[in-house]
Amino acid sequence: MLRKICILGGIVAGSLYAETGAGAWLRYDALSENAIRQYRAQVPAAVTSYGDSPVLESARRELIRGIRGMLGRTLRVEAQLHVESAIVMGTMAGIHQAAPQLHLDAQIGPDGYWLTTVRVGAAVHTVIAASDDRGVLYGVFALLRRIGAGESLAGLNDRQTPYAAVRWVNQWDNLDGSIERGYGGRSIFWDNLLVREDLNRVSEYGRLLASLGINGCAINNVNANPRVLGPDFIPQIARIAEAFRPWGVRVAIAVDFGSPQTLGGLDTFDPLDPRVAQWWKARADDLYRAIPDLGGFLLKADSEGRVGPSTYARTHADAANVVARALQPHGGLLFYRGFVYDHHMDWRNPKNDRGRAAFDNFHPLDGSFDDNVIVQIKNGPIDFQVREPASPLFGALEKTNQAIELQVTQEYFGQGRHSVFLVPMWKETLDFDMHVGQAVATPVKALVAGKIFHRPVGGFVGVVNLGLDDNWFGNHLSQANLYGFGRLAWNPNLSARQIVEEWTRLTFGDDPKVLQTVAALQLSSWRTYENYTGPLGLQTLTDIVGNHYGVSVEASERNGWGQWHNADEKGVGMDRTVATGTGYIGQYRPPVARVYESVETCPDDLLLFLHHVPYTHKLNSGKTVIQYIYDSHYEGAQAVAGYVRSWKELKGAIDERRYREVLAQLEYQAGQAQVWRDAVSNWFLRASGIADAKGRVGHYPGRFEAESMNLEGYTVRDVTPWEGASGGKGIACAAERCTATLRYDGAAGWHTLYVQYFDQSNGTSHFRLWVANQLVDEWAAAVPLLSRREANLAFRRMDGSASTRRVIPGIALHSGDEIRIEGVRAGGETAGLDYIEILPDGK
Ligand code: GCU
Repeated sequence: MLRKICILGGIVAGSLYAETGAGAWLRYDALSENAIRQYRAQVPAAVTSYGDSPVLESARRELIRGIRGMLGRTLRVEAQLHVESAIVMGTMAGIHQAAPQLHLDAQIGPDGYWLTTVRVGAAVHTVIAASDDRGVLYGVFALLRRIGAGESLAGLNDRQTPYAAVRWVNQWDNLDGSIERGYGGRSIFWDNLLVREDLNRVSEYGRLLASLGINGCAINNVNANPRVLGPDFIPQIARIAEAFRPWGVRVAIAVDFGSPQTLGGLDTFDPLDPRVAQWWKARADDLYRAIPDLGGFLLKADSEGRVGPSTYARTHADAANVVARALQPHGGLLFYRGFVYDHHMDWRNPKNDRGRAAFDNFHPLDGSFDDNVIVQIKNGPIDFQVREPASPLFGALEKTNQAIELQVTQEYFGQGRHSVFLVPMWKETLDFDMHVGQAVATPVKALVAGKIFHRPVGGFVGVVNLGLDDNWFGNHLSQANLYGFGRLAWNPNLSARQIVEEWTRLTFGDDPKVLQTVAALQLSSWRTYENYTGPLGLQTLTDIVGNHYGVSVEASERNGWGQWHNADEKGVGMDRTVATGTGYIGQYRPPVARVYESVETCPDDLLLFLHHVPYTHKLNSGKTVIQYIYDSHYEGAQAVAGYVRSWKELKGAIDERRYREVLAQLEYQAGQAQVWRDAVSNWFLRASGIADAKGRVGHYPGRFEAESMNLEGYTVRDVTPWEGASGGKGIACAAERCTATLRYDGAAGWHTLYVQYFDQSNGTSHFRLWVANQLVDEWAAAVPLLSRREANLAFRRMDGSASTRRVIPGIALHSGDEIRIEGVRAGGETAGLDYIEILPDGK
């Protein structure tokens, strides 16, 4: 629930309240006096709603709640229309029957709605009509969104049908309550192998989803525990379905393909064995008896250690169909994941390419999947990297339903510790023309929605993984990604700017300065993140075999996982050409393949994903590859520093709590961006031997390496990988209490001290810092913002992931001053230090 604490008492503007963020974009905060005045003149005083299903009941309550919050008026509920103006809501059929005088006439597709005004005598009714109950609910949210976003209601006539039928989310929640790749706390569904007692957050989630038109949710990890199909889980799943039902959200479950054997006790899970088919059917029948509106199943097979049809030399179609046929009589869908690849691939063979896998596995099977199977395909051919081309599989399935899988949870995008708004990236993929037809454009969005090949069903799936944290994601700004996913699933033609502006208004209010700052930050944040973590199609240069978070340039190389970028002393990039490489580019239709095949026409942003080039290769922009790598990293780090500055200007314009929490997150991100900057640029400097033309890489004025200080108790450690620490080394406290001392010999004046230290998750060390024997700062190595997420963090070592900084501004230094830092270790954390940088204030 939205908790508001009035800090000044009396009537104060929304900006002075402290908010937890739980209300997200549905906080319905009071609008400005001016807006209130205008809307009060337009919004009728009564509501008449026809029908009484739980969904319609939610719709009516939501309308009243929203109007009360934003306009301070409580709509009067009237059973029938009178002469007075009213908001009229219901299905077309319901309204026709009860209020024929409105003469409503329109074709509205499933889940769609029509917002309009109808004059009857002196009354002007605001009508929310739809073909079904869900549409009415979506119409209510749309009306409230308009009000919240400051759009006029005059001449209201908005008829909308969703772009695709499938607008789903997946949660990778484990039954024990942890969440795979979740960064916002523990599961809202599960705890300790049972459904949670209190499912309030599930209904609140359902409300958030419904506000975007999302109509399905898979409630457990794709790496599924077979137990979820056991009889004891049926009533538990039913409880979750019940919490979601009033919001029109259908539940689905992820299943394990080996279940007939591991859970069912059969001696096989061969999809062509009739006993196996019978087993799936019986399980589906049982589930549908308890949950008649179950959405279906989600299946990850033959991928990353999950068993699949290959055990019996069967195809993915065999596997999908046996499960789909069990769901079919109940109207259920089977989402079969296209994320199938060999993670033991020989990296020495230059023809091997994980990027090819989805196409190679599924294209030959086009046409053999049942009509209630949807192949769920990740946006790119690898795995949610910072930039990938659209998966060629989107253009290769003509007789198979498909859905695009987008990752809302920021696995490779800073895990909520970095702010990255993903809508601009998704838009690039959704709008990308796969050129499957001759004349008309065939963008990915139209292909997945089934519009090009006239498929019966298809659409959009978002992997969300939100949790019990007050603000759901552990980062207020990350909420925009769920918002954006839902809005795009409803209408992928919306622009990123439209989406972010809407979201900002609803989430932070309508102060123009807030709007401008937040929109600018969000819209640039993907490019910024790409700039410091993996530009030019290098992919996210993170620890892909570990936490997927911190910098580790070589972690993706020379192992079976196939996320290679092939960097050595001569050049960098994966040769995926048909002419000399892996042939991946040949999986695209000729018009796309032609552009990608040649280094001249290949877009710079994807160059190293598709080509191997020397570091001196000139990009279309005229820069060399190596200089671009250096420059982009400096630009990225600088941009985040700019986010901190611009956020600080919003003090007082946003409630204090969210202001502070976002500021802490951005300050942390600014430090991490610098770690990334130094790590990646030094790595490539060492590999290429080519200096930075601007002289920055390897030269850090004002930086004092910890290992070169005067140490007592501290010992010097090599950091692995070396690029995660300045100079490849740090110091760790080997005693209980240690000190590191340096002598400042620079000019006198005001300075800022940047202490780069290692904040691990397995302890809370303490630091104190003296300048000329005066204690000037002390702190604990536990950034409050981050400590809540410990369950998901594997930051147990001194490395780039744990590296963070303390900024101590306003210190008057004299030449000869002794700067002493004391670290007190705790738990497994050794009060590790990397360096201190001393810069004149304002630099
Ligand atoms: C990524 C992710 C895994 C996940 C997998 C999937 O590889 O790191 O945690 O299971 O994707 O999408 O199935």
